Amino acid sequence: MATPMLNGAKNLNPNCGISSKYCFPKKDSVSYSSNYISSTRRSFVPRCSSTAGGSSSSSRPASQPRFIQHKKEAFWFYRFLSIVYDHIINPGHWTEDMRDDALEPADLNDRNLTVVDVGGGTGFTTLGIVKHVDAKNVTILDQSPHQLAKAKQKEALKECRIIEGDAEDLPFPTDYADRYVSAGSIEYWPDPQRGIREAYRVLKIGGKACVIGPVYPTFWLSRFFADVWMLFPKEEEYIEWFEKAGFINIQLKRIGPKWYRGVRRHGLIMGCSVTGIKPFSGDSTLQLGPKAEDVKKPVNPFVFLWRFFLGTIAATYYVLVPIYMWIKDQIVPKGRPI
Ligand SMILES: C[S@@+](CC[C@H](N)C(=O)[O-])C[C@H]1O[C@@H](n2cnc3c(N)ncnc32)[C@H](O)[C@@H]1O
Repeated sequence: MATPMLNGAKNLNPNCGISSKYCFPKKDSVSYSSNYISSTRRSFVPRCSSTAGGSSSSSRPASQPRFIQHKKEAFWFYRFLSIVYDHIINPGHWTEDMRDDALEPADLNDRNLTVVDVGGGTGFTTLGIVKHVDAKNVTILDQSPHQLAKAKQKEALKECRIIEGDAEDLPFPTDYADRYVSAGSIEYWPDPQRGIREAYRVLKIGGKACVIGPVYPTFWLSRFFADVWMLFPKEEEYIEWFEKAGFINIQLKRIGPKWYRGVRRHGLIMGCSVTGIKPFSGDSTLQLGPKAEDVKKPVNPFVFLWRFFLGTIAATYYVLVPIYMWIKDQIVPKGRPI
């Protein structure tokens, strides 16, 4: 079992300052000492220069692939996907046991915690949060009114505050929340570093961020479709974004559907849960330039439609991958690698 669990490690940049031995001391958990992180806060030197996180922002020009990694495209993507989201995404990619596994490092250990669920969508992850925290203390934020409309229909979320907003520009005061949770949303943010910097800002001192998201595939075809569709970050990119924002005690936990038997070569739409603690009150010291995407800027409708079409085709591949893995799991004898 250990070997397939580490398949994703093939992806690690050997030049990265973190050796894979150091990155993966346990089967599925990565952690860093607070001392190391606090020293990097003062003079950060990017250690994984080939990753998108090597620059202060990993925004991509509209001319490059990753067709749905823009706010407008994500908006329209979820305009339609919201209709079937709970029926298509959850069974294949984001099951209840994965969700509970991924939320476990968030330490939702007190019903009175103030929690923000950013990119909360139809409220699937929020349903996991309100098992541990009173719904009245939880805010669901999303840029898609269509996704939020589904969350509003859920009885268990009736007392949550549900608001529209942008993950890269959160409408919460600095030092506001005890926990920041975001599941499966980072892959659509044009500038993930900015979103994680916002996570840092809105947390109280000692508060914890938990970002759950995809991991980059190593299998060539999966990598091709991942790159066309949206951002599948490498594990070290998540760590680097957290470090640069100022978090300490950063940990990465690998997650995946049971029937993948730990295989990570196709990437996983929900592949890891990354947590970090805010050590000081106030804003992050990380300076960023202007926002990557001006959503008010007019776009050429033909270019938009073409990008949207290609991005959606690539997304369809990722509907098929878990079905393929499920069939393999049924056929290959238990205990053997698939
Ligand atoms: C895959 S869904 C995840 C929904 C939910 N967190 C879950 O666990 O099922 C991604 C969500 O991120 C939202 N989203 C994408 N970009 C966003 C942004 N910049 N700000 C806020 N929400 C965003 C989408 O509208 C969508 O609802």
